[in-house]
Amino acid sequence: MPDQTNPRVALVTGASRGIGGAIATRLAKNGFTVVINYAGNTAEAEKLAASIEEAGGRALTAQADVADSAAVARMWDAAEASFGGIDVLVNNAGVMKLATIAEGDDALFDSQVAINLKGPRNTMKLAATRLREGGRIINLSSSVVGLYQPTYGVYAATKAGVEAMTHVLAKELRGRNITVNAIAPGPTATALFLDGKPQSVVDNLTKLAPLERLGQPEDIANAVAFLAGPDGAWINGQVIRANGGII
Ligand SMILES: NC(=O)c1ccc[n+]([C@@H]2O[C@H](COP(=O)([O-])OP(=O)(O)OC[C@H]3O[C@@H](n4cnc5c(N)ncnc54)[C@H](OP(=O)(O)O)[C@@H]3O)[C@@H](O)[C@H]2O)c1
Repeated sequence: MPDQTNPRVALVTGASRGIGGAIATRLAKNGFTVVINYAGNTAEAEKLAASIEEAGGRALTAQADVADSAAVARMWDAAEASFGGIDVLVNNAGVMKLATIAEGDDALFDSQVAINLKGPRNTMKLAATRLREGGRIINLSSSVVGLYQPTYGVYAATKAGVEAMTHVLAKELRGRNITVNAIAPGPTATALFLDGKPQSVVDNLTKLAPLERLGQPEDIANAVAFLAGPDGAWINGQVIRANGGII
């Protein structure tokens, strides 16, 4: 049964499926009321909210393109109106489009910068002044920051930018009792990783980790739950690579 004694509220971006879905499910299980943000997949988001409620948790869906600062502000206002405030922000929404720097076009660059970099900036800009005392901000980076494989240039650049903002905001929030950290997953079994990859490439990437398997969304949700909960209180301004040991 969920722990109903903890009334804290978590806003998880990109939570309709994949890693974000697992994070919302896990935080709800740990007693958080969760706001399930998504871009367009209403059916998946509603299904997840219903399953959380069936398990005795509390969840609300919130459609908003994280790249749109006005839409993000409306979502934040609505969450505050419904639940009185937000304690934990998980910046999980993201897209990955692979191409060499020579071949990638402007649309590939602009869309990843808008969603992966401006998105977390939009939510952190609000969180910096409106997250409740004792709050936590958890950003999703990637272990490609460090691996730097060919074709990941723009994607890795957006995630390196997220890591930079993580370090800076942790310091800017001095005195607020709010921590800011990032989790950097390695290959994790979701649509973002699997779609469009030949099985041979998936097999090679699966063997990269000494633990010899792909990450599962729940592996990443476990790390987020640690940072969001009491045991993570002293971790601040850090990037934790959750990747089975690939780097
Ligand atoms: N999977 C991996 O191997 C891996 C590794 C390292 C880091 N990561 C990072 O982990 C995060 C989650 O990835 P994932 O693998 O779970 O991806 P995923 O399965 O493709 O899910 C992406 C989620 O982001 C949402 N989203 C996309 N664009 C959005 C926008 N503009 N505004 C709001 N929500 C948006 C999607 O909503 P809809 O359903 O409505 O489209 C969906 O909920 C990303 O930041 C990714 O970069 C993933």
